[in-house]
Amino acid sequence: MAETAFRTKALTKTYGEGAATVHALRGVDLEVPAGEIVVLLGPSGSGKSTLLNILGGLDRPTDGQAFYRDQELTAMTDRQLTRYRRDHVGFVFQFYNLMPSLTAHENVELVTEIARDPMAPEEALRLVGLSERVDHFPAQMSGGEQQRVAIARAVAKQPAVLFCDEPTGALDSTTGRAVLKVLTDVNETLGTTLMIVTHAAATAELAHRVIHFADGRIRDVVTNTTRKTAEEIHW
Ligand SMILES: Nc1ncnc2c1ncn2[C@@H]1O[C@H](COP(=O)(O)OP(=O)(O)OP(=O)(O)O)[C@@H](O)[C@H]1O
Ligand SMILES: [Mg+2]
Repeated sequence: MAETAFRTKALTKTYGEGAATVHALRGVDLEVPAGEIVVLLGPSGSGKSTLLNILGGLDRPTDGQAFYRDQELTAMTDRQLTRYRRDHVGFVFQFYNLMPSLTAHENVELVTEIARDPMAPEEALRLVGLSERVDHFPAQMSGGEQQRVAIARAVAKQPAVLFCDEPTGALDSTTGRAVLKVLTDVNETLGTTLMIVTHAAATAELAHRVIHFADGRIRDVVTNTTRKTAEEIHW
């Protein structure tokens, strides 16, 4: 039996009050086995980012519980959540959030300097195929290259969990495929649990498990028996 990375119980998130109330999450019960690639699919506004942000310790629910292994995230103080993020979690967002005044190497170093057991920045950049670009600034790189720097930065701290919100959203199919290849490599070589939110249904083909989300609820969880590689998926 695989260990469980995440578990949620009746997770609820509500914004606003009265007539303006938005139900972002309406009671989510979820279990994510450690070491899996989990893809979250669902319409815009269905609560995918909200769920990811709560599991990543960036946001808190209105009600319900969330656990990372045996630690209850929903019972943590802000300081404990910060520590949880620093020690266990990496994030990759659609827009890369790189520091424009720093090189690729320096952008990665920003994270490895404060991580507990980091890789060398050169090693992380090599993993994403950017050994030739370590001294380039973001403005000197393509969108896909910048996204790969963002992945190198997230991976360099060797997090147990990597959250990706639309990691290929701004990329063409070839570059998107290269980025997905890096992510699946990280899952295989480091055993990192990956939670990927995407609108690109093709990404689901390389997941171990696909969660279909709609209107703040899980509609369906599908275990993928015929996983494809990044090279094989239909974009
Ligand atoms: N800070 C906020 N204040 C009020 N409502 C919010 C806030 N953040 C999110 N929402 C609402 O919560 C719902 C879920 O938002 P969420 O960002 O989780 O959706 P999503 O599935 O990630 O959508 P997308 O695919 O467009 O990124 C939406 O209806 C959104 O408008
Ligand atoms: Mg979103």
